[in-house]
Amino acid sequence: MSILVTGGAGYIGSHTSIELIKEGYDVIILDNFYNSKPEALNRIKKISGGDFKFVECDIRDRAGLDKVFAENDIEAVIHFAGLKAVGESCRKPLEYYENNIGGTVTLCQAMRDAGCKKIVFSSSATVYGSNNPSPLREDMPAGGTTNPYGTTKLYIERILEDLYKSDNEWSVVLLRYFNPIGAHKSGLIGEDPNGIPNNLMPYITQVAIGKLNHLNVFGDDYPTHDGTGVRDYIHVVDLAMGHLCALKKACSGTGCDVYNLGTGKGYSVLDVVKAFEKASGQTIKYVVGDRRPGDIAICYSDPSKAKAELGWEAKFGIDEMCADSWNWQKNNPQGL
Ligand code: NAD
Ligand code: UFG
Repeated sequence: MSILVTGGAGYIGSHTSIELIKEGYDVIILDNFYNSKPEALNRIKKISGGDFKFVECDIRDRAGLDKVFAENDIEAVIHFAGLKAVGESCRKPLEYYENNIGGTVTLCQAMRDAGCKKIVFSSSATVYGSNNPSPLREDMPAGGTTNPYGTTKLYIERILEDLYKSDNEWSVVLLRYFNPIGAHKSGLIGEDPNGIPNNLMPYITQVAIGKLNHLNVFGDDYPTHDGTGVRDYIHVVDLAMGHLCALKKACSGTGCDVYNLGTGKGYSVLDVVKAFEKASGQTIKYVVGDRRPGDIAICYSDPSKAKAELGWEAKFGIDEMCADSWNWQKNNPQGL
């Protein structure tokens, strides 16, 4: 039996594929390389020391998906494939709805018709919107998303819940990620954004390597300990391990469950800058500017449900996250 990993050449998918292969799973990675490169596959092979299948395919390509399910005995799908840039989603909402929602519907139709009814889905803390106070718990009401990207995650959660309600043979695990950073210890894979990074850590590492002049800190007048935004950063390898636990849950019965994957600790932008400087020995020049529209002050998880029900908790702290992000960037100044 195999595990199909959609978006497995991307940042989180590549780290998860490595841990799956190391655990002895038969892995099939499916990706269209929209936001990743074939070299990621070589690196996965090198780090894991194992083999896997790869299919270049789009999740919106029903015939392509049917072929993958017909040719392989797939037990479950870990579904990472999607577009994820918040700002771009505001400019291109239709592309985001088509790719993320349309692609997920097509994938689930292909799964249903092939009799594969176990799915682990990459959702996001963004589904909590801006009205719930941190620490965020899974039983708080989701909604109030502030951009089309976040809305795709919210709708996909609803679609998968409805799918389970319509057919109790499904097993759905929705994982709400907080802020993944860090990289594999080898320094061979990591986050490899196209163009100017949108997210904090890749921006910091590109300042450190000299590609960018300084970090723009988006506001220092939030109600936080130093005025800058607070987030729950989680090491991508911890996140990957969370998927292995979620997969075991998905394969052990039926149901529809949702879990936060975070550390439960919040760090401000300036906390991260300081931790990165300590871990890397580099000085990060920064300039404080205006708030970024749509940002919230504080967002961190209550991760206790995942610990209680999946037996998972994050192990790495902010110092290791920063050291591993830096190790990846300095070994790969131009990315992959
Ligand atoms: P990523 O862009 O590195 O990986 C996504 C992969 O999916 C890429 O390799 C891309 O080429 C592929 N892909 C996109 N559309 C596809 C399609 N139609 N068909 C086939 N492949 C397609 O992103 P990531 O950071 O690894 O994120 C993985 C998932 O986790 C995404 O769904 C993302 O929305 C979600 N997520 C990410 C974060 C984060 O901060 N990185 C936070 C919360 C949720
Ligand atoms: N920030 C800066 N300067 C930058 C980039 C970010 O000051 O150049 C600040 C932001 O204002 C925020 C913090 O750093 O306070 C983190 O910002 P990121 O863009 O790294 O992450 P977000 O929390 O905004 O968003 C991330 C993902 C989204 C996801 C969301 C909630 O990018 O996909 O977490 O899960 F929806």
